[in-house]
Amino acid sequence: MNRLYNALQLKRLYQLKQLGFRYVPLIEKRNGTSTALPNDLEALKRIVSECRLCGLSKTRTKTVFGEGDPNASLMFVGEGPGAQEDTTGRPFVGRAGELLTKMIENAIEIPRESVYIANIVKCRPPNNRVPTPEEAYTCLPYLMKQIELVAPKVVVALGATAYHYLTGDRSGITKVRGEVIERGAFLLVPTYHPSYLLRNPSAKKEAYMDLLKIKRLLCENC
Ligand code: URA
Repeated sequence: MNRLYNALQLKRLYQLKQLGFRYVPLIEKRNGTSTALPNDLEALKRIVSECRLCGLSKTRTKTVFGEGDPNASLMFVGEGPGAQEDTTGRPFVGRAGELLTKMIENAIEIPRESVYIANIVKCRPPNNRVPTPEEAYTCLPYLMKQIELVAPKVVVALGATAYHYLTGDRSGITKVRGEVIERGAFLLVPTYHPSYLLRNPSAKKEAYMDLLKIKRLLCENC
């Protein structure tokens, strides 16, 4: 909850910065857990579908909220929608999505529908560029709320961008992949992004080891 509160404060600061503010008065930390976001995935999805808080909203076709089992014990977080995701409004449906589905179904041996899949940003960055910090921090409260509501045991950060914004750590993915990081209510495991694996098939072996570790974690915690 603290992280969600901090993410909301960051979002507010980035919005003020975009409006031209350079200084703001000291933000007093409020007691309690109240945030502007609803405690309901469908209501949150509606808010996201109307979001205009960053420049990505100008070029998107559809927002890509995320999908899957709302009670999933395993959640995957990618970077941001690509072209096919932007057209369909669904996460990981292109080539990277096909590989992700295989990773879930062949290595972890559970159906894709039984996990939850989301992204750091809900709108496609033009030309599939990496989201800027402003875009990522503006969108992050939506993801933190999704994590809070789905309450997975394990969150898998797919690639460096997801890992960076979920932890604040700038380490490269090659260094941290396969680590199991306690994040309060859930365990975070970074691994390679499927798009990276499509470009570097020799890294699939390491990703497979990470997936087996994730499978073991889910069993240990069930
Ligand atoms: N890459 C991502 O990071 N997310 C998607 O939804 C699709 C491709």
